[in-house]
Amino acid sequence: MSTFETVIAGVGGHLPERVLTNAELAKSVDTSDHWIKSRSGIGQRHLGADDEATSDFAVAAAWNALDQAGLKPHDIGLIIVATVTPDKTFPSTAVYVQQKMGVPPGIAFDVSAACAGFVYGLNIAHNFISTGQIKHALVIGAEKLSCFLDWNDRGTCVLFGDGAGAVALSAAEPLTAGPHQGILATYLSSDGRLAEHLYADGGPSTTGTVGLVKMNGREVFKNAVEEIAGAVFEVTERAKVPRSEIDWFVPHQANIRIIQACAKKLDLDESKVIVTIEKHANTSSASIPLALDVGIRDGRIKRGELLVFAALGGGLAWGSALVRY
Ligand code: UT7
Repeated sequence: MSTFETVIAGVGGHLPERVLTNAELAKSVDTSDHWIKSRSGIGQRHLGADDEATSDFAVAAAWNALDQAGLKPHDIGLIIVATVTPDKTFPSTAVYVQQKMGVPPGIAFDVSAACAGFVYGLNIAHNFISTGQIKHALVIGAEKLSCFLDWNDRGTCVLFGDGAGAVALSAAEPLTAGPHQGILATYLSSDGRLAEHLYADGGPSTTGTVGLVKMNGREVFKNAVEEIAGAVFEVTERAKVPRSEIDWFVPHQANIRIIQACAKKLDLDESKVIVTIEKHANTSSASIPLALDVGIRDGRIKRGELLVFAALGGGLAWGSALVRY
């Protein structure tokens, strides 16, 4: 079987227009800007409008990624959308992305791994590309979390936001000289024993409703620090790359204290960490590609640099990817 490298050809992000600041939120929920900022690092979040669906955010991010990659919809053979807020129970949000972008018939499906969804999608796409089945793919993390937040639960509603991030991936022949390019290693894990710590209390086959987000914040926090840091150790070991060579840590953006604790465990200076939580809040599967997009567009992340992505969320599910950008 042929072996190709999976390179990130383009990255794009999209945030809906409406911004809800902590101060504004504190008018309707028993909280304060000070509490939210000091406990989570969040200053504001973007919220989708009533007539916007997850696929709309996904499409906007995907166009930006395709533009950057210099690719057209007809180049794409695989679309993976990581989301827990699909447009419809079925079909997948990925087929709506395919429909709206005019991507010809090919493989399109969703991945449900909550905040770890983007790294799950990246791993799956890498398997298609490295084995020569697909030349170009879109992996998109897209969420309209505002539609199933309990706006009376201050323990959850202050933390999340809407948005999407996308990467266009391409197959590349391995270089005859120089380091490997693109995705160097991935790692995924889930532990269903911890499912009750973060979930939505509804579903088509149980309540027949979408449900609302429920979280045991302290338990998720503890697991996040442990498993996100562990997932970074795992991919660097798998790729046999010393952690000191990491140029950028692009973590899931759930809590600034989780990010800082992970960076400390990994001996990574905070100047090497991309942080967007203040402006974006936690956008679940969209948070890593959105942060990647910010880091690339503001000129910090450059071609050839070594990036590590890592996330944990509902499942609990977690994972990581080591990438030479
Ligand atoms: O993306 C998926 C992964 N998600 C995460 O990784 C999130 C992980 N968890 C967290 O980020 C943190 O646990 C939270 C930000 C959710 C909470 O921070 P915490 O430091 O763990 O606070 P806590 O839940 O222990 O609550 C401390 C206090 C409580 O009051 P008492 O019992 O000490 O009187 C809460 O009732 O803060 C209270 N509280 C609030 N106060 C003002 C909880 N939420 C709020 C709020 N505003 N929004």
